[in-house]
Amino acid sequence: MRTLPLLLVLLMADSTPAAQPLIVAHRGASHDAPENTLAAFKLAWEQGADAIEGDFYLTKDGKIICTHDKDMKRLAGSDAVVAKSTFDDLRKLDVGSWKDAKFAAQRMPSLKEVMATVPAGKQIFIEIKCGPEIVPVLNEELQASSLQPEQTVIIAFSAQVIAACKKAMPNRKAHWLTSYKQDKETKAWSPSLESILRTLKDTKADGLDTNAHAIIDAPFVKVLRAAKLEFHCWTVDDPAVARRFIELGADSITTNRPAWLREKIKS
Ligand code: G3P
Ligand code: CA
Repeated sequence: MRTLPLLLVLLMADSTPAAQPLIVAHRGASHDAPENTLAAFKLAWEQGADAIEGDFYLTKDGKIICTHDKDMKRLAGSDAVVAKSTFDDLRKLDVGSWKDAKFAAQRMPSLKEVMATVPAGKQIFIEIKCGPEIVPVLNEELQASSLQPEQTVIIAFSAQVIAACKKAMPNRKAHWLTSYKQDKETKAWSPSLESILRTLKDTKADGLDTNAHAIIDAPFVKVLRAAKLEFHCWTVDDPAVARRFIELGADSITTNRPAWLREKIKS
């Protein structure tokens, strides 16, 4: 057998198309429907998303409800603080009209209701917005759900929450979320790659779910992969950024516009 010249082998390897990452609908199809509502999650499935992402809190009476902010000012013009309100009181709020009058019937869904929309073979990224007090209830609800363990992925900015989830539910995937800040004087970005790796190791996270920032480059991803960690990113509504993260080998791309973005990045 003749040996191919090394350069030719490298060129052939380079022409292999990058694997397509999962397209995750950020707060549902939230460009077109009010974020974190059943309307947005159902629309995400209609738009062909591979997964949905939603934000969750534990209410004062120990139930899990889906919304992004700590309070309901932005979405419902109410002073209600989510963690200090009961589930039933929060359910009275209209969280659809701010987007369009046709969504006036939308209410904050429970985790159970959101999980019930997930079709076979698709996934839900459950972002925990409160502290680890949610973990026992979350564990119970995940166990009671008909979803397979591989269909649920937990994400959180709180390292404490990720560590508590992995301790209580070692078989469920959990990824730590981070964004980045630059020091005005030193120009250094934080957290550093070293500190990210330490957090992922300490929390026993399965991977990183990173803000799709320009500082993420191939050497950064190589280090993650060498540590056998997953690599996910958010929130990408720009096809050029999506292409860059596909090239970097992202496992998933979270977007507000699942159908639109998939069409734009079709190769
Ligand atoms: O998917 C992660 C992303 O949703 C984190 O940011 O503020 O939209 O919850 P945020
Ligand atoms: Ca989120």
